[in-house]
Amino acid sequence: MATVPVDDPTWKDVFMALAELTGTSDSPTTAVKLFQSITAHHVSSAVHVAARLGLADLVAAGPVGFEQLATATKTDAFALRRLLRLLVSSGVFTEPEPGLYGLTRVGEHLRTDRADSLHSFALMMANPRNQQRWGELADCVRTGASRVPEEHKGDPFKQMPPHILELLGKTMTFFVSHTAQAVVQAYDFGRFGTLVELGAGEGILISAILAANPGLRGIMFDLPYMAENAKRRMAGNPVADRCEIVGGDFFDAVPAGGDAYLLNNVIHDWDDERSVEIMTNCYNQLKPGGRLLVVETQYPERFDDSIASRIAARSDVNMMVNANAKERSAAEFQALVSAAGFRPGRIIEIRPAWTGVRSSMIVEAVRP
Ligand SMILES: C[S@@+](CC[C@H](N)C(=O)[O-])C[C@H]1O[C@@H](n2cnc3c(N)ncnc32)[C@H](O)[C@@H]1O
Repeated sequence: MATVPVDDPTWKDVFMALAELTGTSDSPTTAVKLFQSITAHHVSSAVHVAARLGLADLVAAGPVGFEQLATATKTDAFALRRLLRLLVSSGVFTEPEPGLYGLTRVGEHLRTDRADSLHSFALMMANPRNQQRWGELADCVRTGASRVPEEHKGDPFKQMPPHILELLGKTMTFFVSHTAQAVVQAYDFGRFGTLVELGAGEGILISAILAANPGLRGIMFDLPYMAENAKRRMAGNPVADRCEIVGGDFFDAVPAGGDAYLLNNVIHDWDDERSVEIMTNCYNQLKPGGRLLVVETQYPERFDDSIASRIAARSDVNMMVNANAKERSAAEFQALVSAAGFRPGRIIEIRPAWTGVRSSMIVEAVRP
């Protein structure tokens, strides 16, 4: 007997249509799929509020009643229950018994005590300021540029209040911690004497690289406020005696003495002109044969609904609405490093642990 090819796209559509007609499908109809996309910001806001209220920590040990949660968070019990039910319907919380709420495996990432916590990311990404920027998306698409507020012109990082910088630091910690091992495994840093990381944040990546390469020395460089923070955080780190921490502005100058300069999640913050300025400052400090290494999300050449496409496109448009910045493809990076005088080297795709797919890359450029 001939078997029906269930994965054949033509047959899949027929099965979906039949299931929709007979009401036997548990998969969303096409209209429901679009409904989910249209209302995605409802869920985003709900996750943000859950993060602000610390709900995941409160139910970490097991399901808790909504009235008890309302007392702990000083909220209205019935409004809180409605919020929780929205999150149950979105797969973040569970309601194992009416009125009791716990976490799904997805929701576990909202706990603050986990190494793979997305709590700070939820606070940062869905905060009202960011949502306001996304509210300007139509203007941005019409004009080709976001309306960056006057106070954010120049270097927005320099105007960020300390609490936002701290939140950004914590947010980046999640991503860099889950990329660091992939970077360490993919690239031979042992061939260098001194590695300089620019915009190093809390120093997680350079610490991992130094730990894996005992003969290597490091310099981590960031804005003065961030460098002071990093000094406090690096105290007691076994690689601290091999890592100098320097504060400054990479548009003015970068520390001398590096055999390689590393930029992780930095270039996507800047337009092409500003990016070339940073890269040129690295070029000016390198000897011939020295390397520039850029680690970024890979902007695919072709888009579909894969995980890699979703991550790249969301981050890219977020960069556009917030800072007139962008994610770039391997080819775009090669053009950028060439504009700064470098010879393009290898493109090494990497798989950050949190995505499980090859969503990032190391772009290598050589000082001729
Ligand atoms: C998106 S964060 C990336 C941090 C880190 N590389 C990571 O992946 O976690 C960008 C970093 O660039 C730093 N930065 C921004 N402008 C800078 C400047 N003009 N000079 C030096 N560092 C700067 C910020 O303080 C911040 O730490």
